[in-house]
Amino acid sequence: MKTSVGIEALAVALPRHTLHLEDLARARGVDPAKYIAGLGVREMAVTDPGEDTVALAATAVRRLIDSNDVDPASIGMLAVGTETGVDHSKPVASYVQGAAGLPRHMRVFDVQHACYGGTAGLMAAIEWIASGVAGGKSAVIVCSDIARYGVKTAGEPTQGAGAVAMLVSSRPELFAIDLGLNGTSSAHVFDFWRPLGRREAVVDGHYSIDCYLEALSGAYRDWRGRAEAKEIVRRAASALPSEQLAAIGYHVPFCKMAKKAHARLRRCDLDDVLGAFDEAREERESATSFERQVAGSLTLCSRVGNIYTGSLYLGFAGMLNAGAAALVGKRIGLFSYGSGCASEFFSGVVGKNAAEQIQRAHLDEVIGSRERVTVEEYERLMALQPDAPPDIPPAPGAFRFTGVKDHRREYAAG
Ligand code: COA
Repeated sequence: MKTSVGIEALAVALPRHTLHLEDLARARGVDPAKYIAGLGVREMAVTDPGEDTVALAATAVRRLIDSNDVDPASIGMLAVGTETGVDHSKPVASYVQGAAGLPRHMRVFDVQHACYGGTAGLMAAIEWIASGVAGGKSAVIVCSDIARYGVKTAGEPTQGAGAVAMLVSSRPELFAIDLGLNGTSSAHVFDFWRPLGRREAVVDGHYSIDCYLEALSGAYRDWRGRAEAKEIVRRAASALPSEQLAAIGYHVPFCKMAKKAHARLRRCDLDDVLGAFDEAREERESATSFERQVAGSLTLCSRVGNIYTGSLYLGFAGMLNAGAAALVGKRIGLFSYGSGCASEFFSGVVGKNAAEQIQRAHLDEVIGSRERVTVEEYERLMALQPDAPPDIPPAPGAFRFTGVKDHRREYAAG
């Protein structure tokens, strides 16, 4: 019997505050069109120190469990993908296990590889379940991060924060993965990193875009070769292999990146299938192709900004929230990229109950209930000491970091 494994449900947690990029542009003396059209970002999530990586992850996990009536005893693995952990040794996942009251009999760990860590965790969970070793148990994979480049840096408009928690099981109501098709491309490069002791990342921004596109070409071609071998896609000039996917979600450090990525993906197909790049055809078809296959995945990301490990999965959530009904039973592609670098292109089929299932995440409410802050308030929040959170009670169902006692981080639940 063919094993079906994938994402059963998801939940999203965001900080309470959002900054509109047109406000930031005006304050920085930049044409707002640069941020909104040039980078594709409308808003970015802003944290206060009480909303740290653990608090966001634990809030997302609690939402996932409550909204889907998950029996905690059915979970056998909890992995957090993060590049903004809170301890050199103790993983974020361990804090989340405690906060969410998860049982003792489970594998609990973090995965770090820039924005790719969550995907490594997701694939470990999928393959653990598919192998039969999980013995019927599910996994919870959380991507939680705070993307912070600093005030008045080039990366400033590409910040953000948030967590996406996913229930992975043999009931893939949202997304059943195509096992064994994953294409990978990784290399040791210095495009983005965060040396020990630094709160802000070091980034060679334009080089990181080149590294991303190079990795995409490699991972996509690897996936396409496997998909062709299994006759999942065909090589045809009339419908390029990538056009045979109903939608494609890309890792989006900023939403314009999805445009660059989609153009590169199509170029791989046009070069390889036609033997040469057909510029006239691309000019005719690229906008329609982007609108049909990619635009839906940017609906949430453009209002949250970069959330590092969770960006691809926030895009996936946005894609389903914007149009799951049209995607039911159809194959989609997802591309994960983490600087440094590691990347993976994978595909799967959207579940038949995906439209009802994604409603349980209440994504419009999660995104709509945030408060718009001024640039002055954003700058004040950015200047707060990371270990001295303001004394604010956690919202119902949410967690907050409350401070450090005896070197131990403490959290309160609302
Ligand atoms: N109206 C419309 N578009 C405008 C504009 C205006 N007035 N001014 C500039 N733009 C466009 C530029 O043409 C460019 O688009 P393009 O890349 O399609 O050509 C875009 O806005 C960004 O302008 P650019 O000058 O390249 O911005 P920048 O040098 O300030 O930096 C990043 C942009 C993304 C490199 C920077 O924000 C960064 O380092 N971010 C963090 C790293 C990152 O996210 N890396 C991604 C890979 S993981």
